[in-house]
This record gives sequence, structure tokens and C-alpha cells, in this order.
Amino acid sequence: MRRFKILATARALPPRVLTNAELETMIDTTDKWIVERTGIRERRIAAPEVATSDLAAEALVSACRAGGLELDAIDVLIVATSTPDTLFPSTACWVQHKLGLRGPAAFDVSAGCSGWLYGMELAASLIGSGGARTAAVIGAEVMSKVVNWEDRSTCVLFGDGAGAAILTACDEDRGLLGSAWGADGTLARVLYQPAGGTRQPASAESVAARAHTVHMEGNTVFKHAVTAMSEGAIEALKRAGVSPEDVTLLIPHQANTRIMEATRARTAIAPARMVSIVDRYGNMSAATIPVALDEARAAGRLQDGDIVAMTAFGTGFTWAAQVLRV
Ligand code: ACO
Repeated sequence: MRRFKILATARALPPRVLTNAELETMIDTTDKWIVERTGIRERRIAAPEVATSDLAAEALVSACRAGGLELDAIDVLIVATSTPDTLFPSTACWVQHKLGLRGPAAFDVSAGCSGWLYGMELAASLIGSGGARTAAVIGAEVMSKVVNWEDRSTCVLFGDGAGAAILTACDEDRGLLGSAWGADGTLARVLYQPAGGTRQPASAESVAARAHTVHMEGNTVFKHAVTAMSEGAIEALKRAGVSPEDVTLLIPHQANTRIMEATRARTAIAPARMVSIVDRYGNMSAATIPVALDEARAAGRLQDGDIVAMTAFGTGFTWAAQVLRV
């Protein structure tokens, strides 16, 4: 067991709500299609001047306030994102820039929708090895700026937001009980943003071809997501020595209700124990699990000593699952 406690969590969500009814006026879609296929009813959209680090910084400051912690008590700052402010420096460094933070190690994790759990795995290991005492792990995305708003098969799915957790070393029996993670880069092109990196730098052609936006084979993602998220969760539970009945809450990555429900059913965790926020926020990629965790804590659904199972899948493909005693 890698011991730590979650000192605090927080979320930052842009105030602007984009409903399915409004999408009906923008593209050839219906509220009925979106709700039946995804469970999403509305999502938040960042204002044009807002970048990922703005949401990440807001979530971090709120988490520090909630935990009664000064910002400079953080030893390591990890931001999980697929929508960084810039290719370099990292969004984590832009968070420091915004908050005037000097000193703590800061870097991004690029693992798509699994990114926050990848960040948690790193933070748990750093705390376990003595490399850090206090770690901030933030999942933050502004997906709306990399979505093709004329592609109805993708633009209805995503939303913007950020969630943060602050982990601190502790001697109590709390922390990471078991985990499983992995990746399969052979499927990299199933879900990706083709241009903007060194493979296809920005050009007039790449902009005209909408190559800076999300390209996705939805059906393929769907099948792999259900398999990887359920098998990951089952493996993490096995390694943790925890049975499904002992799980207080299951927090799956919030891509859509059908993926989440199929994952839950395969893990045999009771329906009432699954946290679902996807109807209100859509798929916020790396931000979905920390936002859901924060909402569950705020609603009193998690008490000290409870066990939470989290599982995610995303571009790469990547997957990660963890079982925590909080
Ligand atoms: N409104 C209305 N019709 C639509 C829309 C829309 N927004 N989007 C697609 N359609 C149409 C298609 O054009 C197609 O029409 P056709 O039969 O005339 O060709 C029809 O609906 C069916 O399309 P499919 O793509 O087969 O629909 P499917 O049932 O697979 O649902 C969806 C699509 C919701 C994208 C599904 O594949 C899915 O959820 N995939 C997972 C993708 C995902 O969650 N990605 C997020 C990133 S990765 C992650 O977070 C796990």
C-alpha cells in the first residue's frame, strides 16, 4: 500500500452552459440522439480568453483553500491535459506563472482521458518513495478549442473543466491499495489531433483541413473503452484485495453513460454506487474523474476510510484504474 491522504479536492467549471437544444440550432442533431447515445444533456464551454491553465489554477487555489494549505507547501505540481495552453512550456508551468509560484517541480502528463489517474499513480509513487510530501494533481481541459464544431459526431461529446486533488503523506492506513495501468500506441490514430506538433506543423493547409481538431473513430473507441475500463478496474480490485461489495463509490471516466454502465456491470459494483456527472458536463477528458470525485465528496458520498474505485480510458490508447482508501 502506498500511503497518502487526499487532503482536499476542488473543481473549476466555466459558467457558460451549452445545452443540447442549443446544439440543435448549430448542427444537424437532436437532444434525443445525444441523450440516447451518450447521456449528455449539457456541457460547459470556456470563454475565448480562458485557457486550460486558468481553469487548472482556479481549481488548485480552491483546493488549497479547502485544505487550509499555502500554495508553497506543494512539492510537485502535475497537470494532466490533452489541451495544453502551449506545446511548451507545460500547462503546469503556466499555472505557476499565473499564481507566481516558484520552486516546486511542475510538469504535464499527456495520457488523454486517463491522464489524471496517470498523474495520481506518479504522485502516489513520489510520496511513497519520499520524493515528495505534498503533491497537487490536476486534470484540466479546454476541449471546446480543439473540437470541430461542424463535426456532429464529436462536437456533442466534449466539455471544459478542471478538477484538483492535493495528496499528502500520512502514516494512517490510507492511500493506494491497488492499481493497473497501460497503453497501446498501435491504436494512436483512432483518436487524435493530427496537426500542431512536429509531424504536421501548423500551416494554412492544416488549418483549412481542420487537422487541429479531434479526429475519432467513435465505434472503435467505444469497444476498447468498455473492455479496458472494466478489465482495469477488475485487476486493480484484485491487486487491492477488495471485493466489489466493499467499494463505496465507483468513479469511471465520464465519456458517456453507455460506456460507464457497461463498465460498472462488468465490475459487479452496485448501480447506486456509480458516480455520474456526464449529463451536466459531457466528456471533460482528464478532468472528469477529479471533478466527479470532488462533487461526490462535497455531497457527503465519501467518508474517511471509504474505498473508491476509479477507472479511465483515453487517446493513445491509454488506460488506468486505481482503488483508494480515502
Ligand atoms: N446527431 C445525430 N446523428 C449523429 C450524430 C449526432 N450528433 N453523430 C453521429 N450521428 C449519426 C451518424 O452520422 C450515423 O448516421 P448514419 O447511420 O446515417 O451513417 C449514426 O448517427 C450512427 O453513428 P455511429 O457513429 O455508428 O453512432 P454510435 O452509436 O457509435 O454513437 C458515439 C456514436 C456516441 C460517438 C459512440 O461511438 C461513442 O460513444 N463512442 C465513444 C467515443 C468517446 O467517448 N470518445 C471520447 C474520447 S475517448 C474516451 O473518453 C473514452
